[in-house]
Amino acid sequence: MAGVPFDQRDGDIWLDGNFVPWGDAKLHVLSHGLHYASCVFEGERAYEGKIFKSAEHTTRLHASASVLGFEIPFTEAQINEAKEALLKRQNLTNAYVRAFAWRGSEMMGVSAQHNTIHTAIAAWDWPSYFKPEERLKGIRLDMATYRRPDPRTAPYKAKAAGLYMICTLSKHEAESKGYADALMLDWRGQVAEATGANVFFIKDGKIHTPTPDCFLDGITRRTVIGLAKAQGLEVIERVIMPEELSDFEQCFLTGTAAEVTPVSEIGPYNFQVGAITQSLMEAYDATVRGGVAAQQVAAV
Ligand SMILES: Cc1ncc(COP(=O)(O)O)c(C=O)c1O
Repeated sequence: MAGVPFDQRDGDIWLDGNFVPWGDAKLHVLSHGLHYASCVFEGERAYEGKIFKSAEHTTRLHASASVLGFEIPFTEAQINEAKEALLKRQNLTNAYVRAFAWRGSEMMGVSAQHNTIHTAIAAWDWPSYFKPEERLKGIRLDMATYRRPDPRTAPYKAKAAGLYMICTLSKHEAESKGYADALMLDWRGQVAEATGANVFFIKDGKIHTPTPDCFLDGITRRTVIGLAKAQGLEVIERVIMPEELSDFEQCFLTGTAAEVTPVSEIGPYNFQVGAITQSLMEAYDATVRGGVAAQQVAAV
C-alpha cells in the first residue's frame, strides 16, 4: 500500500519558521538526528479542522526535547500557531500532523553539543477510519520478541525516535506473520503496550491497563481513562502479567493513530469486541469531534 512517497507530495512543510515547498524540505545526510536518533516527534490528528489536544502534544514535544538535552527554538505558542497555519494553508480538515525536532549537522559524533536544533511540521490528509463494521472485527496482535526497556537504559517519557527502533522491528515481524501489530512486554516480563499504542483489557465490567512506568503514557490513553470514568467505569492501573491474558474478556488499543481499536486476538488468546469497548469507541469519536463527551472528559 505504497501511495505517493512522502517526499513527493504537494503543498508546503513548515521548516524552521518558514513554509517551504514540500519537495524542498530537506536535511543534510550528515545530520545528527539521522545517525544518532537525536530526534523527537509528535503524531497528532485534526478532526473537522481542529487538532485534538494540540497544546498537549506541543507540551510533550518540548518535554521530549528537554529529556534529550536540547531546547526547541520556538515557543509552544509559536508551534501551536504554526500547526494551525499549516492546516489552513494545506486546506486540510481531517488530517495527520507530524511535528518534530532534531539535531543538525555541525558536529558528527556521539557528542553534538553545538548542533543547530531544527524544527519542522508536516500535515497530510488522513480521514478517520471510523468504519464500525471493519473496526468491530478487532485486530490480531502477535507477541513481540523485543521488550520495552528498563527506564535506567532509556528515557521512556520522551517520544523520541530512538525508542522506535524495536517498535519497527516488532511490527515488521508481526506483519510478516499476518498480524496487524504486536504486544510488547516490558523488561520485567509485564504487559506494556503495542508498537505505537497503549493497551487496555476488560474483565467483569472493570477496565485494567498497565501502569505506564516504562512506556509512553499516551494522550489518548489518558483521554479514554477520563471517558471511562465519566461513564462510571472503574479503571485499574496495575501490573498485568502475560499469563492473565486468558482471563480478560475484551481488549483494545488507544493512540492518536489507532484511536480506540478493538483487539480480537493476542497470540493464542481471543477477545470479544464487547459493549464497553464499543461505547468507548463511540465516546472517543464524539470527544475528538468536540461532542458532549468532550465536556464530560474535560471535567474529569
Ligand atoms: C509507543 C507508543 N505508545 C503509545 C502511543 C499513544 O500515544 P498517544 O495517545 O499520545 O498518541 C504512541 C503514539 O504516539 C506510541 O508511539
